[in-house]
Amino acid sequence: MTDLTAIHQPVLLQDCVDLMVPALDHEGAIAVDCTLGIAGHSTAFLKSSPKARLIGIDRDSEALALATKRMEQEGLADRFTPVHAAFDELERVLEDQGVERVDAVFMDLGLSSLQIDETDRGFSYSHDAPLDMRMDVSQELTAQRILATYDAPQLVHIFKEYGEERFAKQIARAIVIDRDREPLTTTGQLNALVERVVPKAHRPAGNPAKRVFQALRIEVNGELAKLAATLPQAANHLNVGGRLVVESYHSLEDKTVKTFMANGLKIDAPADLPIIPPDAQPFFKELTRGAIKADEQEIASNPRSASVRLRGVELTRPIPDRWRSRFEHMAMAQDPSSDEAKRHHAKRNNTNRNNSRRH
Ligand SMILES: C[S@@+](CC[C@H](N)C(=O)[O-])C[C@H]1O[C@@H](n2cnc3c(N)ncnc32)[C@H](O)[C@@H]1O
Repeated sequence: MTDLTAIHQPVLLQDCVDLMVPALDHEGAIAVDCTLGIAGHSTAFLKSSPKARLIGIDRDSEALALATKRMEQEGLADRFTPVHAAFDELERVLEDQGVERVDAVFMDLGLSSLQIDETDRGFSYSHDAPLDMRMDVSQELTAQRILATYDAPQLVHIFKEYGEERFAKQIARAIVIDRDREPLTTTGQLNALVERVVPKAHRPAGNPAKRVFQALRIEVNGELAKLAATLPQAANHLNVGGRLVVESYHSLEDKTVKTFMANGLKIDAPADLPIIPPDAQPFFKELTRGAIKADEQEIASNPRSASVRLRGVELTRPIPDRWRSRFEHMAMAQDPSSDEAKRHHAKRNNTNRNNSRRH
């Protein structure tokens, strides 16, 4: 029997369990793991919450299959529903499951070790492979296509923004020149290009192409936009007392999570108002006092945990209507052409039509 526990070591496992479990200690409790992976976190949530069931979402069908097998091996399959979807389709997933509200939503962003170790998917700079980097192999955009079609300013933007790459301009210029001679199709070619362009004296520790690879992966998979579209959907579907718990590995991801959570942690009224109306009081309670980080021991045994930032909030009262509709707009603003946005417009039009019939 394959030891599935050995494939991916879940980061800050006990902290995540401690944050999720209080919301799941009642009959019929529902948890959603938006980034199921190999179910390292999810199996722990279910074991610690015997009354709960869990919907596990992943866009990687291989991860879903392994997670399902693991749930079976651990005797948890009857409380587990696997769903192949991108997490920004959360609202549709819940609707398909006939679920209106849930008690806890969890996200452990980025790649699983399974994906990093799969040398043929082009995520890793340590192996020569096609420049693919798709988490969902049914989507069309690949790293190769980005390198072949984005103009230099677009490339500079992603390398700077998502990779914090100091030599973004030089690398982008070299890509645009090189691709006229020969298409860039492999991780080996990209490694060699970065190696040639970034001066030895200015290279960061580790592989000089690490930041460029990270930036491409974030762009290929639309990671930041998907995260920003998912958090408001999760909040809008939480029961009071429900929890939103997120692990990020990139400063922009963490900023997105922190900024989103801050919406519900502050008083929503002008600072000089003498009495704060109840409706302007915060609706989230912070569970983590800033972000939890991995300690030295965990980092030594699992280097992936070095950059983790874990944040959690609890919904303390129903989300005020104006925030609910702000959250709907936030979710849509990320991708107005998405199925979610179309569904939202259809729902809104129906409501408007019904309202105008009533008047
Ligand atoms: C870090 S791993 C999760 C590992 C998991 N917590 C465990 O313990 O096994 C992240 C997972 O999220 C998935 N993922 C990343 N972005 C996604 C998205 N937008 N929609 C759905 N799944 C996504 C990846 O395919 C990957 O399997």
